[in-house]
Amino acid sequence: MRMLINAAVVVLIGLASAFAQAPAAQTPAGNARDGQALYMKIGCYQCHGGQGQGGAAGPRLGPAPMLAYRAFATYVRAPRAEMPPYTLKVVSEQQMADIYAFLTARPRPPAVQSIPLLNTP
Ligand code: HEC
Repeated sequence: MRMLINAAVVVLIGLASAFAQAPAAQTPAGNARDGQALYMKIGCYQCHGGQGQGGAAGPRLGPAPMLAYRAFATYVRAPRAEMPPYTLKVVSEQQMADIYAFLTARPRPPAVQSIPLLNTP
């Protein structure tokens, strides 16, 4: 019985540390500059706009709030609707992280109140 309890404690501690490490493991480091080059080269920009701002053919992708990395990568590999899939042959895991880094690093747009033309009566 005592051994069983010990084993259970070891499993619980293992699970707890696995969860504690999860967020860091989910977003791999990427190079935003390489990501931008690839984003243009393989045509993401054609539907999502040069800055990921969205366009006629695809929704806005960034900057924050963005999809979590895992959800982002899963969608790009196997989109559910109009978007073409990008398999590992076309976009490696590192390249996926680079594209994500590029989109995450886009500057946020200025507040509407700070643009005079949009505030003239
Ligand atoms: C031919 C147009 C097209 C291209 C090219 C394209 N997308 Fe998309 N994308 C879409 C459309 C349309 C959607 C909306 C859902 C759907 O129809 O699949 C979408 C959805 C997404 C989503 C999910 C957004 C969300 O908030 O759920 C992500 C992430 C995404 N695209 C990333 C990319 C990346 C990265 C590339 C380049 C590797 C790319 N897309 C290339 C059209 C495109």
